[in-house]
Amino acid sequence: MHLILPAAGSGQRFGAGIPKQHARILHQSLLEWTLAAWQAIPISGHKLLAIAADDSVSRELAASFSDVEVIHGGRERADTVLAALMHLSPRAEPEDWVMVHDVARPCVENKDVEQLLQTCQQTQVGAILARPLTDTIKKIDNHGRVTTLDRSALWAAQTPQCFKVGDLISALEQAKERGLAITDEASAIEAMGWPVNIVTGSERNIKVTHPADAALVEYFLKLDLT
Ligand code: C5P
Repeated sequence: MHLILPAAGSGQRFGAGIPKQHARILHQSLLEWTLAAWQAIPISGHKLLAIAADDSVSRELAASFSDVEVIHGGRERADTVLAALMHLSPRAEPEDWVMVHDVARPCVENKDVEQLLQTCQQTQVGAILARPLTDTIKKIDNHGRVTTLDRSALWAAQTPQCFKVGDLISALEQAKERGLAITDEASAIEAMGWPVNIVTGSERNIKVTHPADAALVEYFLKLDLT
């Protein structure tokens, strides 16, 4: 199993004037927390960290994680993941599993990763971590008309998301050709008509998007330190 960590986003919604992977949580950056979390999770294959070409801070930080290879990401998240897969594919088999995990989720837990991999190994295609939605979800159509969706059928996708190297390359390439808006790996796989499985992830595995998320992540990380 290989690991790709996309960290090439600008994190503009975080709004701190710095890419969010450099946001400080307790004594270290978000990126360091996520890299440290994956040091504690066994990965048999390659570990790739995809950063923006001008992000020398991430490059330097990653240097202290000797098993992590740094590559350059792309304009959109899907471009970043595809660039990482292209880098990986000469040294991987198309049938190998690859996990893609947002650097913005530092509270990833080994038990969830194990469960995800186990589920993948029982399926042909792969699986993702996700959580059932708790809010009531509204949809607004082009005329401004609001309707309510059936919450019982809705899940919020998390990462890691795990698929086969060859399948993910084909799916992301096709999605690009068709101009589809792809915000996670599973959406590219779904667009191919391939079945995606869901494993319930931890409520701690939140993505840091806004400063309030960083405060919650800090709380969870502190719990682990005590
Ligand atoms: O923007 P968002 O929070 O959805 O990004 C999720 C992850 O994808 C982040 O870790 C971000 O750094 C990464 N990303 C990337 N390349 C991009 C855009 C986002 O690696 N072009």
